[in-house]
Amino acid sequence: MIRLGVNIDHVATIRQARRTYEPDPVQAAGLAMLGGADGITIHLREDRRHIQDRDLRILRETVPFGLNLEMSCAEEIVALACQIKPDQVTLVPEKREELTTEGGLDVIAHQGMIADTIKRLQGVGISVALFIDPVPKQIEMSSKLRARAIEFHTGHYAEARTEINLQQQLEILKFGAEQAHQLGLHVHMGHGLNYLNVKPIVRLPHVEELNIGHAIISRAVLVGMVQAVKDMKMAMSEHFTSRIISH
Ligand code: PXP
Repeated sequence: MIRLGVNIDHVATIRQARRTYEPDPVQAAGLAMLGGADGITIHLREDRRHIQDRDLRILRETVPFGLNLEMSCAEEIVALACQIKPDQVTLVPEKREELTTEGGLDVIAHQGMIADTIKRLQGVGISVALFIDPVPKQIEMSSKLRARAIEFHTGHYAEARTEINLQQQLEILKFGAEQAHQLGLHVHMGHGLNYLNVKPIVRLPHVEELNIGHAIISRAVLVGMVQAVKDMKMAMSEHFTSRIISH
């Protein structure tokens, strides 16, 4: 069964809209785990626009396994990660003006900095994934950099508007997953996945983990976190065929 990491950044975004104490991402993580989440994913951005250092510290206490921290290679953040020790770090590119992570990390252009960061994180026992586009040269370099895993950016797949393009994007992801697996990399995927488009992704070879945020939190606002996570687990399951999810 493929693991589901629930990204709870949006819960912190609502809290930060009023700089108050609610809703608390720590509570959201607890409910997501009750709903069947296999892990909790948070992105500690350099500008702290949603998740705060306090969230990371408390979540390390309350999430027993599968705490996945998305972050850049910024010195201050790397030092904090080495201190708090999430189970996994996923290195992502970060631009201040972006609404969300817009593309994969260029692990060729930034190989020196990424190699140093991986060494530091792995040195304190943190497993490292690299968030990249499914491009052969990027996959090859991820293996050379000795990352444990890659997370493919599924944004182009999620944004495909024609059947032809959808199939093309799936082929690219499939090809990339095969290459990564052959190189000994574990395969994760995420970005733009939702209740309707997740199924073809779970059918791709070698996929072990999906990280999904926006779709789950959007549904959680209306039906509650436990139900929203259960629904996603159901949508990911092989037994689920309908495109309509009923409660
Ligand atoms: N994986 C990574 C590396 C991300 O940066 C994000 C967005 O924070 C996600 C997965 C989740 O994307 P979405 O919110 O579109 O499900």
